[in-house]
Amino acid sequence: MLPDIFSRTAAPTFLAPMQDVTDVNFMRTVSRLGAPDVFVTEYLRVHPSSRIEKSHLAALLDEELKSPVILQLIGEDEYHMLRIIDEAKKYPRIWAIDLNLGCPAPKVYRKNVGGALLKDPKKIASLLSAMRGAWGGCLSAKLRIGFQDDSLFETLLKTVLDCGVDFVALHARTVKQLYRGKADHSYTKRAVEICGSTPLVANGDITSWKRAEEILKETKCSGIMIGRSAMRNPWIFRQTRERLAEGKEAGEIFMPRLLDVREYVDEIISNSKKYKPKPKNLPGRLKKFLNFIALGVDSTGEFLNSMRRAQSLDELLRICDKHLLEDGKSVLPFSLEPAENLCARPNHED
Ligand SMILES: Cc1cc2nc3c(=O)[nH]c(=O)nc-3n(C[C@H](O)[C@H](O)[C@H](O)COP(=O)(O)O)c2cc1C
Repeated sequence: MLPDIFSRTAAPTFLAPMQDVTDVNFMRTVSRLGAPDVFVTEYLRVHPSSRIEKSHLAALLDEELKSPVILQLIGEDEYHMLRIIDEAKKYPRIWAIDLNLGCPAPKVYRKNVGGALLKDPKKIASLLSAMRGAWGGCLSAKLRIGFQDDSLFETLLKTVLDCGVDFVALHARTVKQLYRGKADHSYTKRAVEICGSTPLVANGDITSWKRAEEILKETKCSGIMIGRSAMRNPWIFRQTRERLAEGKEAGEIFMPRLLDVREYVDEIISNSKKYKPKPKNLPGRLKKFLNFIALGVDSTGEFLNSMRRAQSLDELLRICDKHLLEDGKSVLPFSLEPAENLCARPNHED
């Protein structure tokens, strides 16, 4: 079954799953500013006592979201995976299920799930075909190019295709690479060839509508998945749609101003207050986002460095006001690309 999203839209955009980021509140913010074609939940860890959590259901069943939401599962135990799929069937609005085959966090992959499964294509084959047998809806796999290196790249892709997935999302790095270097989209190009008629969604360092357009041209992928750059620039899906689907000229594409960014900061705070589980450290959570936002505001690194040193929410907001509003800054454009000389840290899941 080819999900109709790929025939309806020139190149559908996906908000990448991000643990502790892409809850229903963040999805609503992105939806309001310019929705992607598809959302993916944070991963649901499947283990003997897991259930589909309220926080996942909130996103999966939300009436306000303008786009379908994929439930992402991470685990290795077939019995419990099928038990969760059975539970998912009680909610006909769940459009698709995705298997996480890429999480690089050592505390996760040491349990033989996520990225660790890339070491064992046979295990993937038995788990994913059992999932395929149990789930008649759209099924996808999100993987990296390998665990340690790319030696199993083709085997892994053929394995997930043989299991009958409806599409594949590829983050073009190995697990061991974590987030170092640049994603290598020559693998995306090869993956598109291997996948044939099964859509391949490109992921990794797609930082702007311009980069999305380049990758689409270079690789002939079927869709674009964006993670960290959507934390920096939640208008990125609107911009990408305006270019790729509506064919707007560069000068006509929506450009947020620093005032819009300041409003986005307030929204992050109000979303964080609603986040479940409640963040113990609200300034810390805001810094997680500002870390990325700062790369689009000031390439000298002054905003980034002073926000990192801030001790309280009030201090953070004063720093935001200074860099985003004062001295006529509010009308300045928010940079399309992140500053190359600066680095968001941490820039990955824990
Ligand atoms: C904070 C954070 C949390 C993440 N959580 C998940 C997750 O739950 N499931 C998953 O498949 N990938 C997860 N990822 C990886 C992203 O989905 C994506 O593959 C990666 O960030 C590369 O895309 P990007 O360069 O557009 O950010 C996470 C990444 C970050 C930065």
